[in-house]
Amino acid sequence: MTGTRHERPGRAAEAERLRRLFRFFGATQGAGRSPVYETLSEGVAGDDGLLALLLDTPEEQRRPSLLFAAVNLLLASRRDSELAAYYPIHGGRRAVDDHLVPTFSAFCDRHHDELARLLARRSTQTNEIRRCVALRLGVEHVHRHWPGPVAFVELGASAGLNLLFDHYDYRLDGEATTGTGASPVVVSCEVRGSSGAGLLGTPPRITRRLGIDRHPIDLSDLDARAWLEAFIWPEQTGELATLRGAIDLAASTSAASVVTGDATTDTARILGELPGREPVVVFTASLLSYLTTQARAAFVAQLHEAARLRPVAWVFAEAPGLLATTALDVAALRGPLARRNSLYLVGASLRGADHHHDRLLGLADPYLRWFAPARDPADDFRWVPAD
Ligand SMILES: C[S@@+](CC[C@H](N)C(=O)[O-])C[C@H]1O[C@@H](n2cnc3c(N)ncnc32)[C@H](O)[C@@H]1O
Repeated sequence: MTGTRHERPGRAAEAERLRRLFRFFGATQGAGRSPVYETLSEGVAGDDGLLALLLDTPEEQRRPSLLFAAVNLLLASRRDSELAAYYPIHGGRRAVDDHLVPTFSAFCDRHHDELARLLARRSTQTNEIRRCVALRLGVEHVHRHWPGPVAFVELGASAGLNLLFDHYDYRLDGEATTGTGASPVVVSCEVRGSSGAGLLGTPPRITRRLGIDRHPIDLSDLDARAWLEAFIWPEQTGELATLRGAIDLAASTSAASVVTGDATTDTARILGELPGREPVVVFTASLLSYLTTQARAAFVAQLHEAARLRPVAWVFAEAPGLLATTALDVAALRGPLARRNSLYLVGASLRGADHHHDRLLGLADPYLRWFAPARDPADDFRWVPAD
């Protein structure tokens, strides 16, 4: 893309910020995972025309994941385009080479108006099914303390694909670990620092399951499904198959639903309205980063209020620095662990009317590609090297 526009001072500074943002994204997210996005991130950072496209969109929409998803969405219906040849998820087989960035740039130029519309209106919408590994580990921990059935609520549930976590098969370190072996969804995860044997047992009976999201994804809407798929990265053919399997499974059952609600204001009310007296497992994965400090405090207050009526276990997969602001009673979060925000902590907070018992269960890659189980209750994970 070769747009040359006279940059106003504020615009030039914002362009610089975007260059840094894309380079950071390429180095921290793309490197080692997606040669296509790693190369394109660098390419966008060095292309004034592509930066101009982003500068013309609302500020909060200027995100690498959003630009890449918008392009990916268009490619899904243009599988014979030159750019799609670089995307294995669209049947492409071409390795990254010097033509990738100019091809991407030309594609964006050609579809400028469509991209501008998508970038202006759409929000980041992902549902990372591998995070069910964190959920399974958390539920396992809850089950050891509170045997018996539980109700299950996910806050920030997106399309609600994690709600059927106990319908999936799990494969830890390549070994089939649990499940029927017949599920259309197989969740895989590498285990670091120990073996995966015995980590996942049989999940408890789930009495009811409910998702809450500010902007739930309606899986009966084909457009919404396509947008969810657009967040799958070019090389992630396995992830795309898993996502489609989970979507089909979710669409085939009425056991789980996602309602519109805000975790910071509606949690206590919605949990209070659930029938029964069994404990409720509340799962959050990648929710806290959407909340301001104040909103995080409001969310914790909601959990506290809900736990006055029935036991509530908060199972989380979240960034350490954000968890450190939620008054969890975990000594390790007062040390250097709280600065390892490129990783996620998996843990559980078991809450009653006037107490909570908090425990970190492991450290993981944010997408749960790998998981390092805690070696003891006070583990601060210094032994887990940076990726
Ligand atoms: C990154 S997605 C994670 C989805 C899912 N938990 C997963 O791990 O696959 C975060 C979700 O949180 C939702 N969200 C953000 N703020 C929220 C809030 N205050 N209350 C409820 N949902 C919220 C977003 O709409 C989005 O669907």
